[in-house]
Amino acid sequence: MQPKIKIAASILSANPVRLEEEIKKIELADIDLIHIDVMDGHFVPNITMGPFIIEGIRRITQVPLDIHLMIEHPERFVKTFAASAQGGDLITFHIETTEKPEEIISLIKETGLKAGVSLNPDTPTELVEDLLDTLDMVLVMSVNPGFSGQKFMPKVLPKIGRLRSIAPDEFDIGVDGGITTETISQAVQKGANVIVAASAIFKTNDPCNAIKTLRKMAEQVVREKS
Ligand code: DX5
Ligand code: ZN
Repeated sequence: MQPKIKIAASILSANPVRLEEEIKKIELADIDLIHIDVMDGHFVPNITMGPFIIEGIRRITQVPLDIHLMIEHPERFVKTFAASAQGGDLITFHIETTEKPEEIISLIKETGLKAGVSLNPDTPTELVEDLLDTLDMVLVMSVNPGFSGQKFMPKVLPKIGRLRSIAPDEFDIGVDGGITTETISQAVQKGANVIVAASAIFKTNDPCNAIKTLRKMAEQVVREKS
């Protein structure tokens, strides 16, 4: 069974000096999650936001925060990020960054947040299949992580399908990268229900309307499937 569609707005494409205004706009569309891309310049070739910004965001919105850690040694930073998000929903780390994912999942859960694991486009699902029972989400990257505005890679679609076929009921499967009105249906068709989008929301004239359109398209696919 495919759980409820959740739209996660990635603020990587928002105007960084007008973040509060940008967040207020997407709140009007009942956004489900604010997706925060944390990059360290090592695991990915880009540097973005850290706990300081997350603390600021937490002060201006009640929307659950979905923290996507694209960093080496995520275990060193779990507590700091959890503290900055103060009850914010979920921390996701990359399976490619660790040999001991179980320990990181436990660390995240100890903070009271949900735990997610992300897979790069070339990483096989086998690496996370045995972890599903301990996780709240698997986030399938549909671009190589590092930047917003890249092109969706259809080659990851079978991985979404595979994970949906073995995941427990109501398990969240996310897709991140290159989601637009052209690509969203394919990802939902395969079983993704947490839809991360940056440019398709913030690089439009009307982010609120963009969210509504993406949600409508995704829900339509779910209806047709059932
Ligand atoms: C990429 C990030 C994504 C990114 C998505 O490394 O993890 O969350 O912001 O951007 P779009 O939706 O523009 O592909
Ligand atoms: Zn992301």
